[in-house]
Amino acid sequence: MSTIHVHDKYFIPYLSGEEIINKVKELGASINRDYNGKRPLFISILNGSFIFSADLFKFLTIEAEICFIKLASYKGTKSSGQVVTAIGLDTDIKGRDIIILEDIIDTGKTLSQFLPQVYNQQPSSLKIAVLLHKPDATVFPVNIDYTCFSIPNKFVLGYGLDYNGLGRNLSQLYQLKED
Ligand code: IMP
Ligand code: MG
Repeated sequence: MSTIHVHDKYFIPYLSGEEIINKVKELGASINRDYNGKRPLFISILNGSFIFSADLFKFLTIEAEICFIKLASYKGTKSSGQVVTAIGLDTDIKGRDIIILEDIIDTGKTLSQFLPQVYNQQPSSLKIAVLLHKPDATVFPVNIDYTCFSIPNKFVLGYGLDYNGLGRNLSQLYQLKED
């Protein structure tokens, strides 16, 4: 496994596909336990969460539903600071047990802007499950219920996460190589 080149940057291997899938499987088992007898509705945040959400969903043995919304705040390897809702929530979530699926929490801005929209619609419960969390990047603190990996404040790529549109198809995670 070696360095890869995407657009103008180099990335080094960080987490293997096997390490990731094992954690996602553990997360699935925790959710199966915690939501036994319930029927949660997952809200997956596009684009970055599509692979994480699909893999996690296959490990669920409880009844579960999923819908997708699209929020974006990133340009290149830096957050633009502006969160745009490109595809909104079209499902009635009142009285539902909601689990939000996010690929990565970086500054926390994306989720902290979206959460009030969810609370306004009065779900009966709300939890957040993330693949990756960069605790050192926090600007807007968000309570995360399930975290697969806490990672350093470095840009990562692969397993659904992109750098200017590329790299989402990589089955492992890479980290930006500092020059
Ligand atoms: P936040 O609003 O700063 O928490 O950023 C959240 C969004 O930025 C995530 O959903 C990702 O789409 C994107 N993002 C944050 N960090 C990275 C990274 O290291 N690689 C790729 N995308 C990232
Ligand atoms: Mg995202």
